[in-house]
Parts: sequence; C-alpha cells; structure tokens
Amino acid sequence: MSARERDWDGVRLHVVTGKGGTGKTTLAASLALALASGGRRVLLVEVEGRQGVAQLFDCPPLPYEERRVAVAPRGGEVHALAVDPEAALLEYLEMFYGLRRAGEVLTRFGVIDFATTIAPGVRDVLLTGKATEAVRRRVRRDRARRDAPGTDAPAPFVYDAVVMDAPPTGRIAQFLNVNAEVAGLARSGPIRNHADRVMEVIRSAETVVHFATLLEEMPAQECLDGIAEVAGAGLNVGGVLVNMVRPPLLDPDTLARAALGETDTAALVQGVKAAGLEHPEEIARGLADELVGHALRVRLESDVRDRLASAGRPRYELPLLTDGVDLAGLYRLAETLRDQGAA
Ligand SMILES: Nc1ncnc2c1ncn2[C@@H]1O[C@H](COP(=O)(O)OP(=O)(O)OP(=O)(O)O)[C@@H](O)[C@H]1O
Ligand SMILES: [Mg+2]
Repeated sequence: MSARERDWDGVRLHVVTGKGGTGKTTLAASLALALASGGRRVLLVEVEGRQGVAQLFDCPPLPYEERRVAVAPRGGEVHALAVDPEAALLEYLEMFYGLRRAGEVLTRFGVIDFATTIAPGVRDVLLTGKATEAVRRRVRRDRARRDAPGTDAPAPFVYDAVVMDAPPTGRIAQFLNVNAEVAGLARSGPIRNHADRVMEVIRSAETVVHFATLLEEMPAQECLDGIAEVAGAGLNVGGVLVNMVRPPLLDPDTLARAALGETDTAALVQGVKAAGLEHPEEIARGLADELVGHALRVRLESDVRDRLASAGRPRYELPLLTDGVDLAGLYRLAETLRDQGAA
C-alpha cells in the first residue's frame, strides 16, 4: 500500500451528493474503487432504490445484502449494498427488540409502509443508520483473536471506508441531519438513541460530504449553496468533484482572440483550401462560428471553475468519457481521483 498522504486519510464515511444527473452514482462508485486500491475493503451504499450501482458494475440487481462487486487496482475490494428502508426497518426491529416475527406481522398490516413512507425522518434514519452501522462494524472478536492472537486491541473494522451514493444537494442537509428530524418524532427511547448514535458518526471527523458538479452555472450554484448549507448544519464538507470536464481544443491565445470575435478568417480559408475542400469561404465561416462558440464555452467554464475554487475546498476534475461510462471508464475515473490525491 502506498504511504503517500491522501486528502481524506482518516475519513471512513464519504457521502457523495450533487445536483441530479451530475454523476453522483458514477463518482461514488469511482471513489469507492479509488479508496479500495492497494488492498483495502470499501462498501458502496446506495440509498435511493434505483439499482444504479448494479448497472454500473454490470451485475444483477443487488439484494438487501452486501455483495462484492469489483476488485480494485493493486488488490482491494468494493462491496455494494442497496439499502431498502423496509428491510432496514425489519432488521432494526429484530436487532433492538428481537422482533423478527413481529416485523412480519407489521408488514402484513401495512405498518412498515407507514413508517417508511409517511414518516420521512424515520425513513432517513434507517438509511443513514445502515451506512453508519457499516462504518462502525468490526470483525467478530473470535475471528480477530484467531488472526492476531494475544492482542487486546479492538478488533479491526470490517470496512476501511464506506461511500454513500446520497440524495441530491437539495435534500442532503435534511437527510443527514436525522437528529433534528427524529427529535420531533421521538424525544427518548430506542429510536432516539439510534438517531443519536447515527449522528455521532455523521458529525464526527470520520464523515465528509463531497459534492459532484459540472462546469456549468446551475450545478455549480447548487454545489456552492449545498456546501454552505452542509457547513451551516455543522457537518464536514469534503471535496468538489468536477465531472465531465472537456479539455480546450485550442491554445489560450487563439481562444481569447476568438472570444473577442478576432478570428483570422483568411487563415481559415487558406487552411480549408489547402485541405482541398469545396466552398472554402462557406466552410471557413462555419468553422469560425464554431470556434467562437467553443471559445465562449471555455471562458464560461473558466469563470465557473474560479467560483468553485472560492469555496476553498479540494477540487478534483474528472474527464468526460466520450464513450460513456463502462467498467473500464469507472477504473479510469478512479485512477484520476487517485492521481489527484483524493484517495
Ligand atoms: N465522466 C463522465 N463521462 C461521461 N458520462 C458520464 C460521466 N459521469 C457520468 N456520466 C453519465 O451521466 C449520466 C448521469 O450520471 P449518474 O447517474 O452517475 O448521475 P447521478 O447524479 O447519480 O444522477 P441521478 O441524479 O439521476 O441519480 C449517466 O448516464 C452517466 O453514465
Ligand atoms: Mg444516481
């Protein structure tokens, strides 16, 4: 395992949020692969019931069960879990009250539906609770003793890190702030204690919230608003993951002149003629228009990049994969994250 410092050493719960469609699921999966590289074990948790993770890793829909979905570069494993609030509630009842059978009865009478669909605070605490449980989970004592006899140190964690493909920016602060949500529902008792334990992990230095964004106005604004909101809620802001970045096609000088409408059209006409194409003037005009469009886009992206930098958080840039995101693409994004120090 490399001994170099990584930006999130010590963090064990990585929450990935962002505007819809900016790449939360893709980047959560890439980050999980990056964190697992070199022999670690990472759990990728999906909470929105859309089976996006299974699709990404080309496996059948995930049951409510942790499954190995990928082997990371240089060893290491990514496991995945699609948390379903109903199954999480049954598990919770069984764990805290020994109520497996009662759970079945409750399901039959629709109580579970009530708890998971009507009371959003309960739903959220079940989802975040599952992720924080995985963060705290340790290898069973007997197994730990067998692997390292004669030590009294706490058993090692089952997962070195947990990555959560979380709800979008608009809902993230409320989603993670389960304490406030549950406070109105349960002032004491086991649900309250459970919420307190969940919040302990979420507020600790072990948890950060990363933001996926694009180099576009709306997603960037949502990212900056989300950062302010998450920080305001007393949670730790992680990095800004700038996704689908396209490299500029021309040198800065040519682009700057093009943006000002100073494209050398005569040179373009010469170039088109040299290429032996017909109607060189017409083609050159079309090219000049495209050049201006490209130059303006690059300028806008550069402004957005500056605004994102103003948040003062570590930033990572991930390329637009022109062939779409397949498994090879995920590994490529994971390597890019590692190269930039994210993992
Ligand atoms: N770097 C990339 N290059 C090319 N395509 C990408 C990249 N990142 C994501 N995509 C594609 O963009 C689309 C949206 O990505 P993804 O599903 O990860 O976003 P999301 O934020 O999870 O969306 P949702 O809000 O619907 O959950 C997908 O089709 C995905 O394959
Ligand atoms: Mg998604």
